[in-house]
Amino acid sequence: MIHVLYENPAWLPPLATALDARGLPWRAIDASTGFFEVEGDIPAGIWLNRMSPSAHTRGHAGGIHYVREWLGVLEERGARVVNGSHSYALEVSKVRQHAALHTMGILTPRTVAVVGRDQLVAASRQMEAPFITKHNQGGKGLGVQLFRDHDAFDRHVGSEAYEEPMDGVHLLQAYIEPPSRSITRVEIVDGQMMFAMRSATDMGFELCPADACQVGDAFCPVGEAPTSRFAAEPIEADDPLVRAYIAFCDRHRIDVAGIEFVTGADGRRYTYDINMNTNYNSAVAKAAGVDGMAPIAALCERLLATGR
Ligand SMILES: Nc1ncnc2c1ncn2[C@@H]1O[C@H](COP(=O)(O)OP(=O)(O)O)[C@@H](O)[C@H]1O
Ligand SMILES: [Mg+2]
Repeated sequence: MIHVLYENPAWLPPLATALDARGLPWRAIDASTGFFEVEGDIPAGIWLNRMSPSAHTRGHAGGIHYVREWLGVLEERGARVVNGSHSYALEVSKVRQHAALHTMGILTPRTVAVVGRDQLVAASRQMEAPFITKHNQGGKGLGVQLFRDHDAFDRHVGSEAYEEPMDGVHLLQAYIEPPSRSITRVEIVDGQMMFAMRSATDMGFELCPADACQVGDAFCPVGEAPTSRFAAEPIEADDPLVRAYIAFCDRHRIDVAGIEFVTGADGRRYTYDINMNTNYNSAVAKAAGVDGMAPIAALCERLLATGR
């Protein structure tokens, strides 16, 4: 049995289709709330963690912690979890993502972590404008705003538009303006690049037409983003950055990831976001000409066959 832990039902249908196409036994477990006996028996099979780091925006903040505890118990008992506790710790912390990327020599935009609204103005003086803000835990463009000068930032911090991050941790980050007006996301499953997609950034950091997500979450499956926003990115599997991503996933026991980078005017590629849920929508799949969920189903099938 494949036990799928999820919070956002909108993300399930493409996965369900891929698992069913292979005739795999699976069940979906809504992990937004619930209970389990800590010393109880663990059902046989493997576990697929599809918990959303933005669950709190749907009223399920507790689910994020619930899954963390659950993964700990599952792994304590030797269960195989696809995207288990270590990758999940990275999923919910951009600060830890950045530190881990940096350690492996992967270029990231300069970043300052800030706790305390009253610290933001002072911390921002360490940044050169333009810079952007984002929330440590998010995944759908939460708190992502561009500031072209410090005065605008100071006003924002004092205004009603300011939003406290879920875990209290803000990021101030160098803004890497892409001359291509696009970012790239590389999808990795089971140690291999599946495909890479380019997504236009022209809509800025405002709400996307899907309403349910923000434009930062360009790969959200909710709603139909226009296909024209996406294009397959011709990036080779032996590109040094792709190889670095695969080594990164291997080192951090990440089974499934979509890793985003932006190419600056200096021609360098800055990595800024790792997503453990491949949430591409049908527009992306159409543009890439691939079924991104099929490799995840194949991974689950292999793990089921080989046991824990
Ligand atoms: N340092 C940066 N420089 C330029 N654009 C950025 C930077 N960080 C984020 N962005 C833009 O904002 C979007 C959302 O930011 P991201 O870090 O991916 O947050 P989320 O986890 O919410 O997706 C990105 O897809 C990109 O378009
Ligand atoms: Mg992102």
